Amino acid sequence: MVTAEFVIVANRLPVDRVIAPDGEEIWRTSPGGLVAALEPMMRNVDGAWVGWAGMPDLELSPFDADGIRLIPVTLSEQDIEQYYEGFANDTIWPLYHDVIAPPQYHREWWDAYVSVNRRFAESAAATAARNGTVWVHDYQLQLVPEMVRELRPDVTIGYFHHIPFPAHGLYAQLPWRDQVLRGLLGADVVGFQRPQDAANFVAAVRRRLGHETTANSITQPDGRRTQAKAFPISIDTGPYRELARRPDIRARAVEIREGLGNPRCILLGVDRLDYTKGIRHRIKAYGELLDQGRISVEDVAFIQVASPSRARVDAYMHLRDEVELAIGRINGDHDTLGHTAIRYLHQGFPREEMVAMYLAADVMLVTALRDGMNLVAKEYVATRIDNRGVLVLSEFTGASDELRQAVRVNPHDIEGMKDAIITAIEMPREEQSRRMRSMRKRVLEHDVDAWSRSFLTALERAAAQRHQPVPGQGAAS
Ligand code: G6P
Repeated sequence: MVTAEFVIVANRLPVDRVIAPDGEEIWRTSPGGLVAALEPMMRNVDGAWVGWAGMPDLELSPFDADGIRLIPVTLSEQDIEQYYEGFANDTIWPLYHDVIAPPQYHREWWDAYVSVNRRFAESAAATAARNGTVWVHDYQLQLVPEMVRELRPDVTIGYFHHIPFPAHGLYAQLPWRDQVLRGLLGADVVGFQRPQDAANFVAAVRRRLGHETTANSITQPDGRRTQAKAFPISIDTGPYRELARRPDIRARAVEIREGLGNPRCILLGVDRLDYTKGIRHRIKAYGELLDQGRISVEDVAFIQVASPSRARVDAYMHLRDEVELAIGRINGDHDTLGHTAIRYLHQGFPREEMVAMYLAADVMLVTALRDGMNLVAKEYVATRIDNRGVLVLSEFTGASDELRQAVRVNPHDIEGMKDAIITAIEMPREEQSRRMRSMRKRVLEHDVDAWSRSFLTALERAAAQRHQPVPGQGAAS
């Protein structure tokens, strides 16, 4: 039996079991920002990571990978359909991203969510050492804090929510809205990306459960307190800066530019193929700039990396069709034999190749309609070691709170976005440098290490308070 002082619980393990094209089963880094954010911290602590290996019906014993103790949770094909693709990604994901796509509410998906959350909670409760710490991550596991608290009242529990938390008017749609709030309130600290997310959560708790609240804390009738606060997540900047200096990667960036016919300007978009990312809006703006002759394909090339994601969920299938139709039309209308308008890559790439693309890109387009943080924006900034390059950034991302020197856009405003792209293309070097310098300072100072330290410090304080008597209530535990 594995026990650990510090237990991470996340839907995915940091590595996924996948079938390679030759039929061999291999381990690959999992998709998404969560793993990228937590992996570096986990290498430095004595801990364990409870999560799913990304394939159905895999019964695996705990094992070590890259110095991290991994404890796999098995999901059946039906769990994947109902808990992961269903409730997590077709109910909560669209609801919490302001209903950009219509959320589906199905009772059997909720039942699966409860039972899979229980499996994760049981595994965490069996792993945590006496008085240890359990840190639960993200919207797939919102019931786990309360379930762990019931099984193991001795442990300290943190929860971090990587995606937005919606305003009450939208949240109230959820048929299981009270159960989810109670699930989260099992934690001593509930962390969010932006102050507004924390405020939305606190307001939902006050309105739905009637608990006593202040701006950043909730007191339950038994006197137990939960803190709810913003802890904006970041990246491990070191590897990005190192790769950006490597001669072979710089040479690869030059090769990428040559491969596009040496345009004056390269625009880059890098996203999971997700309807929250504003990929269609960005493509539309670029297409109209070409239609109107404000730019030409010889001058301005656009690379769009869209890594495959949640491909069996209807809304994602439709998005893929729409994006590919739009790109096909634009390329058909504007390509020449020597130049492609949009170089579209429906693939994931290793970090080395991503950094080469970041280095090649004069303008990075992050136009999400809603995004908890957006770590791609921070990765781009971290790699721009010469302080050149322009970030066009949606105001609906968490990152826009911090990266104030980006060219800010409202992605719903196509005209505004077209003007912003032109501003970015034409921005003088000195201005690029002034803006990038200040954004780099922010990202390098507030890296993922600073993020996890500030969350864990808040958690330690909350745990210490939990063991102190609350005035007028006797001992609260
Ligand atoms: C976002 C979520 C993560 C999730 C990732 C990849 O970053 O916040 O929790 O892991 O997307 O999505 P997937 O469904 O492939 O895990």
